Amino acid sequence: MKDFFLNNPINKLRHDNIHFILDNDDAFNYHNQLEDYSKTPMVQLNTLAKKLGVNKIFIKDESKRFGLNAYKVLGASYAIYKILSKNPKVSTFCTATDGNHGIAVAWSCNMNKKESVIYVPKETSDERIQNLTAIASRVYKTDLNYEETCELAKTTSERMNWQLVQDTSWEGYKKIPAYIMSGYLTQFKELEGEINIIDKPKADIVFFQTGVGSWGASGIWYYLNRYGANRPKIVLVEPIESAGVFESFINGKRISPNGSFKTIMAGLNCGIPSKIAWEIIRHGCDACLRISDKYAKEAMRSFFYNLNSDPKITSGESGAAGLAGLMKCIKDKSLDDLRAHIGLSSESRILVFNTEGDTDKESFKSLIKN
Ligand SMILES: Cc1ncc(COP(=O)(O)O)c(C=O)c1O
Repeated sequence: MKDFFLNNPINKLRHDNIHFILDNDDAFNYHNQLEDYSKTPMVQLNTLAKKLGVNKIFIKDESKRFGLNAYKVLGASYAIYKILSKNPKVSTFCTATDGNHGIAVAWSCNMNKKESVIYVPKETSDERIQNLTAIASRVYKTDLNYEETCELAKTTSERMNWQLVQDTSWEGYKKIPAYIMSGYLTQFKELEGEINIIDKPKADIVFFQTGVGSWGASGIWYYLNRYGANRPKIVLVEPIESAGVFESFINGKRISPNGSFKTIMAGLNCGIPSKIAWEIIRHGCDACLRISDKYAKEAMRSFFYNLNSDPKITSGESGAAGLAGLMKCIKDKSLDDLRAHIGLSSESRILVFNTEGDTDKESFKSLIKN
C-alpha cells in the first residue's frame, strides 16, 4: 500500500457551531495578557533548504512556548479559562495524555489553583510520567492504549464529577476540544505579518504532524478561512504505526488505526481522529503521508546538527515529524504523485513547526548520539 493519500480540498469551509468557536481572536487576546506570554520564534534554515533542494524552509519553534517545551498549552490554557469563566467552581480537571497535553493541563490548573488528574497510556515512557508527576496533582499509568485511556478519563470524570478537558472529540463531546483548537490558532496568528501576509502567504506548502488531528485541523481552518484558494498546500504527517487520518481517508470514514502503536513519535501515537478535526481535515487537507521512525530521527538530527549559519534547534521525536515528512517527500522515489499534487519543487517555500523540544531527554540523547 502507498504511504500517502491525495485529497481534493474545498476552498471555503461551511460555518457551523464549531467554526463559530474558532472564528474570533478571543484565545489570542487571552494568551497575550498572560504574564509569561511571548511569541515563539520563527527562523529560516537556509542551508538545510539548499541541501534538500527547496527554496526556503521556515520553522516556528514551539519548544519555546511558556517554558513548557511544546505548543500544547495554547489549547489547554484557553479551554480551562473558558470553562472557569462559565463555572468558576470546577475544582478538578482530568485528561488522558501521552505527555505534552497533560503537562499543559496541569500547568493551566496550577495557574488557576485547581487540581489536575492525568491518565497516561501504557506506552508512556518513565521520564514523561516523571515530568507529569512533578507538575500534576495526580498521575495514573494505565495498561491501556491511548484511545482506551481517553475513555477511562471520560468515564472516571463523569463518576467523580471532574471536568474532562480532552484534546480530541467524539459524538457528544465537541465544545471543549473546539476551545482547545481555538487556542492553537494563536500560533498561526503570531505568523501574521511574517509568513501570513495580506493576499497570499509566504509559504507554498505547510507540513503538520498529526496525532488525533486537532492541531493540524486548526491550521487548515486558519489557512482556508484566511486565504481560500490562495492558501498553501497542506500535508498531514503521521507515524506509519498509528496513522488514524491516513487510514480514515483510505476507508472513507473516521476509524481507529490498525497499526502496532510502536513508534518513537509519542505525541502522535494516538487512535481514532478527533471527530470535529476530521470534518475539517477531510474537506481541507491536500494530502496525508505516513512516515517511519527513521525519518523522524533524521529530522531531529538535521535540526540539532545545524549547517553553517542555520540556527541549532532542539526538536523531539514528534516535534521533528513535520520536517521528517518534507524529507520523505523529497527523498522517497515512490512519491512522484504526491510531489506533483502539492507542487513540491526547487521553488517551494516550506513552513514546518517544531511542536516540541526534548520532552523526553533520555530518548532525545540516545536518538541524537553520533
Ligand atoms: C509534540 C506534538 N506535536 C504534534 C501533536 C499532534 O497534535 P494532534 O494530536 O492534535 O494531531 C502532538 C499531540 O499531542 C504533540 O504532542
